[in-house]
Amino acid sequence: MKKVDVILGLQWGDEGKGKVVDVLTPRYDVVARFQGGPNAGHTLEFNGEKYVLRSIPSGIFQGGKTNVIGNGVVIDAILFRAEAEELAKSGHDLTRQLCISKKAHLILPTHRLLDAAYEAAKGSAKIGTTGKGIGPTYTDKVSRSGMRVGDLLSPDFREIYSRAKARHERILRSLDYSYDLAGLESQWFEAVEFLKRFRFIDSEYFINGTLAEGKSVLAEGAQGTLLDIDFGSYPFVTSSNTVSAGVCTGLGIAPNRIGEVFGIFKAYCTRVGSGPFPTELFDETGDRLCSIGHEFGAVTGRKRRCGWLDLVALKYSIMINGVTQLIMMKSDVMNDFDTIRVATAYDIGGQVSGEFPYDIADSLKPVYTDFEGWKCDLRGCKSYGEFPAAFRRYVEFIERETGVPVRIISVGPDRGETIVREYR
Ligand code: GDP
Ligand code: IMO
Ligand code: MG
Repeated sequence: MKKVDVILGLQWGDEGKGKVVDVLTPRYDVVARFQGGPNAGHTLEFNGEKYVLRSIPSGIFQGGKTNVIGNGVVIDAILFRAEAEELAKSGHDLTRQLCISKKAHLILPTHRLLDAAYEAAKGSAKIGTTGKGIGPTYTDKVSRSGMRVGDLLSPDFREIYSRAKARHERILRSLDYSYDLAGLESQWFEAVEFLKRFRFIDSEYFINGTLAEGKSVLAEGAQGTLLDIDFGSYPFVTSSNTVSAGVCTGLGIAPNRIGEVFGIFKAYCTRVGSGPFPTELFDETGDRLCSIGHEFGAVTGRKRRCGWLDLVALKYSIMINGVTQLIMMKSDVMNDFDTIRVATAYDIGGQVSGEFPYDIADSLKPVYTDFEGWKCDLRGCKSYGEFPAAFRRYVEFIERETGVPVRIISVGPDRGETIVREYR
């Protein structure tokens, strides 16, 4: 029986998961998203075109592969419809390629409103969510009052919806949040009819059946390990398990069915929204990373906070996920840098530690190792051997520190700007 390989982010999201899933899809029969929702924005570039995917898995552009939205995902019918219609305009009709788990939860219009209302109520302590209703939808799932995709086929659908809406409106009133639901609601009901054109499946049977037939599955993560609800920088996290364990609950496969775990990281770090970020740069170098790396959110357009690579955090993420192969993205962004810094430990009040602490206080200071910049355009390199020695030193330092091989190196946003390393 085949196993499920996993691709997931090791930092705070936006590592480049979409690009790599697209690049690796030809090796697989099925690509399946296991968590998150339209808070994700996965950017793919090829043939001079650029696509941003939110709920639809990033395997849809590689020749008729089956793509699955798993039970661990939350779906907003309105945003799903917009995304699918946009793709249809560019000639990608998904109705035969895409299946949706009946057990995936639905983001209702009132979930979006609740997301905004809770954020407003938090004031300066706000999470800085994407405003897509993610937290309230997962909250309803866990409190056993959510609505699932399978409910759309139930004769009691309207009644289930009305009960949820009434409950949400009571909360919105208690928060003194003023809103206008009518337009959003009618759009949602129309979009629900659109959603019903897709095949709703028992995705756990589908995925396990696919493996039993000897076919291969790639699980696509959204967000990143440091945004995981359990292991991220709580409460500044998303509301799902973004880590490899989330593949088991988000697709219905057993832990011993997990194969390779590809961990993706940027050659530096970024974060959107609030929360601690030990290696964040507030200077001109941070601005350079942002402008050269085009570090603006694919979903919200927000400027991403930028900083140096953090090996303490990376090693923590590798441990939690059981990463077997690393994938390094966006190295080209630092082509012109004289010096590149990497945090290898934290100084916490004079105590040097290699562990990611429970609380990341302002007093925490990263301990850095400096590297000479490679000062050349990596985008021209076609194999690992062609990379300049200074760049290889950077890569090999990361491999030694983490004990995991860097298998793929991305040097540009295009599908083709990807170097898969050969190993002796
Ligand atoms: P995801 O959410 O993990 O799929 O990542 P995003 O798509 O949100 O953000 C990654 C951004 O970096 C996108 O704009 C990609 O087009 C871009 N990108 C991906 N890989 C590279 C790379 O190696 N170099 C550069 N310069 N850009 C990249
Ligand atoms: P991809 O898949 C980066 C962040 C938000 C916020 C926190 C909670 O593109 O990597 P939420 O809306 O999930 O309740 O917001 O998580 N966040 C992301 N940051 N990339 C993402 O997705 C993100 N999805 C959520 O900015 O800080
Ligand atoms: Mg993204």
